[in-house]
This record gives sequence, structure tokens and C-alpha cells, in this order.
Amino acid sequence: MKRTVLLTAALVVLATSASALTIKNSKHDLSLNSGASWNSTNTNEICVFCHTPHNPAQNVPLWNRTNPAAGSFTLYKTSATLTTAAKTSAFAADSISLFCMSCHDGVTGLGAMTNTSPVGDDSLKMTPLTGPANIGIDLQNDHPVGFSYDAAQSDDSTGLFVKATANAALGGNAFFGAGANMIECASCHKVHDNANAPFLRTTNKDSALCLACHNK
Ligand code: HEC
Ligand code: HEC
Ligand code: HEC
Ligand code: HEC
Repeated sequence: MKRTVLLTAALVVLATSASALTIKNSKHDLSLNSGASWNSTNTNEICVFCHTPHNPAQNVPLWNRTNPAAGSFTLYKTSATLTTAAKTSAFAADSISLFCMSCHDGVTGLGAMTNTSPVGDDSLKMTPLTGPANIGIDLQNDHPVGFSYDAAQSDDSTGLFVKATANAALGGNAFFGAGANMIECASCHKVHDNANAPFLRTTNKDSALCLACHNK
């Protein structure tokens, strides 16, 4: 009997976590009638603004957007207490943060897709993001991104947790690039999941998100 109860409880947990992925009707749902403040007036698909099944701009992850040039951004690098690794001068060309910046740079049109939806041209095409979600091209006033977490951690082994510990606390796959060691926007954010607004990988109650990496 007890076993059945536990099994039922486990299934409920599974069902809840499966339905927690909530891009639909989130601010990343730019489809017609999504209710988001930025949405299309004629495209009723969600994924198309970022992905396409064929002929993508970039193969992984079937990326349907033309990203801004890596060199157009100024990164955080002025602090005396930063490790050498964190004082990156520019994004790598394959930086996953450029995916985010293809909307959050305040320059690129939200509907600037490689392949538009079959329903046709899009009202959002030429409109760049404005307001607080416009992070801009000057990232000197944003948490540092675009460098190797492993390298920073080995320079500051008491201030930062080892990558495996941080990765586990952030729900896995939190570091990017060929060596799965780059800290990017998506190390803190989950683009498809707004269960912990604003699209955070984990709750930031008691600063849990910050304490996943920083040993403070
Ligand atoms: C606002 C942009 C955006 C939208 C809309 C979006 N994605 Fe993504 N997706 C991304 C980014 C960025 C990545 C790579 C970074 C990451 O995984 O965090 C990604 C990665 C993925 C991946 C591979 C990694 C993983 O999480 O499994 C899959 C599969 C995926 N998306 C499916 C979808 C589907 C299906 C939809 C529509 C329901 C969708 N995405 C809508 C931006 C988006
Ligand atoms: C297709 C365009 C697009 C892409 C690509 C995109 N975003 Fe967004 N994002 C938006 C829009 C539109 C909003 C809503 C802005 C508003 O309502 O003012 C938003 C809002 C957000 C917010 C704020 C949510 C809130 O509740 O206030 C966060 C955080 C965010 N995005 C992170 C990311 C990250 C990280 C990536 C890359 C992994 C990304 N976005 C990629 C379009 C995009
Ligand atoms: C170190 C973790 C971390 C990184 C890296 C990070 N963010 Fe965030 N971001 C947060 C947190 C936490 C919040 C919520 C802040 C708050 O509510 O005060 C946030 C908020 C936001 C918002 C909402 C801002 C607003 O005022 O409405 C956007 C948009 C956003 N992030 C985009 C990005 C993009 C794009 C990148 C990469 C350039 C990025 N973030 C990198 C942790 C991070
Ligand atoms: C994914 C891991 C990760 C998360 C999550 C994270 N950080 Fe960081 N943070 C880093 C790394 C790595 C550095 C660069 C550290 C260095 O070089 O000393 C950094 C740098 C900083 C700096 C700059 C330090 C300096 O010397 O100039 C501050 C401040 C900071 N983080 C605060 C935060 C806050 C607040 C949060 C939560 C909102 C947060 N971080 C979340 C990894 C993370």
C-alpha cells in the first residue's frame, strides 16, 4: 500500500515538472494572441522566432535567427577583483549569448528570422526590443559572461565552486561551448521555462541562484 502511495506521489512530481516548462504564454511566446507584450499580429507559431526544422542560419540548435556580430559588444572587464579569465575582451563567434542578443541587443528586429512562418511576413519583423529587457550592446554593467568558468574557478578556487557542483545546482547543462565550460546568459536563464521568473534556472530565493557558483 505504502509503495503505491509513494509511486503515485512520484508520478505527480514527474507530471508537475514536465508541465513546468512554460514557454507557451510566457514573454518568450511571440505568437499571435499569446498575451505577451511583444507579439506578432499574424504568426501563430511559437518556436519559429528562434528555431526552424530545415535550412537554419546555424545548425545547432536549428537556429532561425541571424545573430549580431560577436565584436559589436563591450563586455564587463573593469573590475580589479576579477580573474584574468573573466576579463574577456569579446564574445567568441559561437557564443550562445549571441542567441539572446539577437533580440536583447535593442538593435535587431524581433522578427528577423531566416525562415518566416508559412503564414507569411511578420509584423514584428523590423521592431527592436525597447524597455528594461533591452540589455543593449554595452554589457559592462551586466554580470560577466562569455568566458571559461573552469579557468575562472581555478584562478579563484575558494570564491567559486567547482564546475560540477555549480552545474548540478543549476540543473545541468549550464555551461556551453565545445568544452562545456563557458558561462553565458543561459547559465543563469532558461529560455523556454518561466517557472522561476524571469526565466531563471533555479529560484533566487535566499540568492540560491548566485550561491550556485559563488562561495559567499
Ligand atoms: C526566444 C527564443 C526561443 C524560442 C521561442 C524557442 N527556443 Fe528552443 N532554444 C533557444 C535557445 C537560445 C536554445 C539554446 C540554449 C539553451 O538550450 O538554453 C534553445 C535550445 C533548444 C533545444 C535544444 C536544447 C534543449 O533544451 O533541449 C530544443 C530541443 C529546443 N530549443 C526546442 C524548442 C521548441 C520545441 C520551441 C517551441 C515550443 C522552442 N525551442 C522555442 C531559444 C528559443
Ligand atoms: C526572439 C527574440 C528573443 C530571443 C532570441 C530571446 N529573448 Fe528574452 N525576451 C524577448 C522578449 C520579446 C521579451 C519580453 C520583453 C518585455 O516584455 O518587455 C523577453 C524577456 C526576457 C526576460 C525577462 C522576462 C521577465 O519576466 O521580465 C529574460 C530574463 C530573457 N528574456 C532572457 C533571455 C535569454 C537569456 C535569452 C537567450 C538564452 C533570450 N532571452 C532570448 C525576446 C527574446
Ligand atoms: C549571473 C546570472 C545571470 C546572467 C549571467 C545573466 N542574467 Fe539576466 N538576470 C539574472 C537575474 C537574477 C535577473 C532578475 C534580476 C532582478 O529581478 O532584479 C535577470 C534579469 C534579466 C532580464 C530582465 C531585466 C528587466 O529588468 O526586466 C533580462 C532581459 C535578462 N536578465 C537577460 C539576460 C541576458 C541577455 C544575459 C546575457 C547577456 C543575461 N541576462 C545574463 C541573472 C543573470
Ligand atoms: C553560473 C555561475 C554564476 C552564477 C549563477 C552567478 N555568478 Fe557571479 N560570477 C561568476 C563568475 C565565474 C564570475 C567571475 C569571477 C571572477 O573572475 O572572480 C562572476 C562575477 C561576479 C561579480 C563581479 C565580481 C568582481 O570582482 O567584479 C559579481 C558582483 C557577481 N558575480 C555577483 C553575482 C550575483 C549577485 C549573482 C546572482 C544574481 C551571481 N553572481 C550569479 C559566476 C556566477
